[in-house]
Amino acid sequence: MSKYYVTTPIYYVNDLPHVGHIYTTVVCDTLARYHRMVGDDVYFLTGTDEHGQKIQRAAAEQGVTPIQLADRVVERYTELWKELDITHDDLLRTSQPRHHMAVQEMVRRIAERDDFYVDRHEGWYCSGCEAFYTEKELTEEKHCPVHERPAEWEEEENVFFRLSKYQDALIEWYDQDPSPVLPLSRRNEVRSFVESGLRDLSVSRTKVEWGVPFPDKPGHTVYVWLDALTNYLSALGFGSDDSSLFDRYWQDDEGQRVHVIGKDILRFHAVYWPAFLMSAGLPLPTCVFAHGWWLRDDRKMSKSVGNVTRPDHLVESFGADALRLFLLRDMVFGQDANFSDEAFVDRYNSDLANGLGNTLSRLVTLSRRAFENRTPPKVAWDAELMTSANRAIDEYREGMEKYAFQRGLEALWRLLGETNQFLVSHEPWKLLKQPEERQHVAEVLATSLEVVRLVATALLPILPETAPKVLAALGVDAVASSEALRWGGLPVDSPLAEGESLFPRIDKKKYFADVTEPPTEGGAKTSSKDSGESAAAEVIAPIESEIAFDDFTKVDLRVADVKAAEEVPKSKKLLKLTLELDGVERTVVAGIKQQYAPEDLVGKQVIIVANLAPAKLMGIESQGMVLAASVGGAAVVLGTAQRVPSGTRVR
Ligand code: ME8
Ligand code: MG
Repeated sequence: MSKYYVTTPIYYVNDLPHVGHIYTTVVCDTLARYHRMVGDDVYFLTGTDEHGQKIQRAAAEQGVTPIQLADRVVERYTELWKELDITHDDLLRTSQPRHHMAVQEMVRRIAERDDFYVDRHEGWYCSGCEAFYTEKELTEEKHCPVHERPAEWEEEENVFFRLSKYQDALIEWYDQDPSPVLPLSRRNEVRSFVESGLRDLSVSRTKVEWGVPFPDKPGHTVYVWLDALTNYLSALGFGSDDSSLFDRYWQDDEGQRVHVIGKDILRFHAVYWPAFLMSAGLPLPTCVFAHGWWLRDDRKMSKSVGNVTRPDHLVESFGADALRLFLLRDMVFGQDANFSDEAFVDRYNSDLANGLGNTLSRLVTLSRRAFENRTPPKVAWDAELMTSANRAIDEYREGMEKYAFQRGLEALWRLLGETNQFLVSHEPWKLLKQPEERQHVAEVLATSLEVVRLVATALLPILPETAPKVLAALGVDAVASSEALRWGGLPVDSPLAEGESLFPRIDKKKYFADVTEPPTEGGAKTSSKDSGESAAAEVIAPIESEIAFDDFTKVDLRVADVKAAEEVPKSKKLLKLTLELDGVERTVVAGIKQQYAPEDLVGKQVIIVANLAPAKLMGIESQGMVLAASVGGAAVVLGTAQRVPSGTRVR
């Protein structure tokens, strides 16, 4: 049994998870499930990155301690992984004592190699990346190239790691065949970065207390990336009394150690991490796979940028499996892709409602009619379709093993398409009533049903909730094994229940008309109805003439809690809202009734002009105005990226 250790990055707890985090985790879950299916000994790790300046600041801004912030966000991650059927064996938190122990052990080992020294350090720091940048790497305005926010000049005494010493060893590692860094374009990118010369790396901070204390360096905290990367070892018990997991999954010569990450953190994983491991005398990962970014409006979806998609409503409407499939099928693994709800619904309809769902129900119905509510009696298979199916399963396996999920999945749906063609050309529905054709019908239906069984089995790692239902509809137990991936597992002459519709088709027009998605965090664009794509078709009003800053500050904008909301009788457009600002209630009337039901808004936070002269609307005095984007006259109410105390000023 080969060992297969697979990890996600550990996610920062400065904000809630979004589609990007879900993506990497779904990829790893699919890999873990696939490798379990083919008989590997799998360990699947995820976790959270809780230390460092970024978290310290985010906590301070929200008026909580870092650990309070972390606890809250970890809870959300835990729930989300459950909702999405993620089968991680462990969720490591860097605030845990087991992790502190491992980091200190790592530091001790590197120190034994004499790979640390203390020196003065100065440079440009981005707390979003938790990384220093050279002046050349910053934009003209000295902004971080990733977050597009000002970098900060930092000067302090630091511990340095002799990264430069590992330049040749790293190049040698990149040049191994097969390459440990994938895709190859990324390998080439880090390789030339390393070849152009490595500078030693600052690995302690004196101004950041929230972290692991640097052993034997009072006043220094371990730099958050040295801390974070070590999570891959600490979860296995590195530095503790029990090294059984560590020996099994990290020290096995034949084992695979796979880090799946986004390309944003490639350098940390493909340069710093292997160098730390070499210094500590430990085995290196066998694969660092850096995938591309999900984009929104062509920019990386990012908590710091604020253009993220939170998938709650998609999962609610279509189920976790639909999201899992979309993510794996619509991104070429390694490249960037644009996220759009419309593409999501299209994918659901074409692959699940039509492709898989229809084929299944059509075949079950036909077989029930032809063979007294049972699968066909034992017959020969159609050789051509069987050959195609075996080829598709090989392509699927290759796709899963080479991180080309979209290719593997495409092979399965191509096979379903071929099966439908096969049915059309044999027209079993016409032959049902002809006794002399019974054998022929049995062959056609049995072969097609067997294709669906194979496809559903192959989909077990991707659709953990619905693939077993497809199998159940065929009277097959969901067994994820290599054996089940071989042709011929369809039970002969076995009962077929009347099918329920597993993937009801979505009426796209109706769906988008129904999601008057009350924007949640930060006006997060969660449906294409309110996304840039449709807004771009609007006539955008020209910008008003310039005003002085003082004029702007006269407008007193505040965050308000919506306590209650009701329709204004006889008005088509108005809702009457009871808002609370810092303990004081007021009534505001807003023209948003066509887009929001009263219950959509209660409990939400809105932004209002708090010092607008009162006005009477339909006999009600409105004490302020709710801010909303006006998309072709339809209101999209504005909110904040996180909850803040009501009454907080907006500028
Ligand atoms: O970087 N598209 O955490 P993080 C695709 N704590 N994937 C995305 C994405 C997007 N738009 N946005 C995020 C950190 N991701 C560190 C990691 S590891 C030792 C420490 C995914 O919360 C992708 O996997 O910023 C990316 O690398 C990761 O989330 C970054 O998560
Ligand atoms: Mg990030």
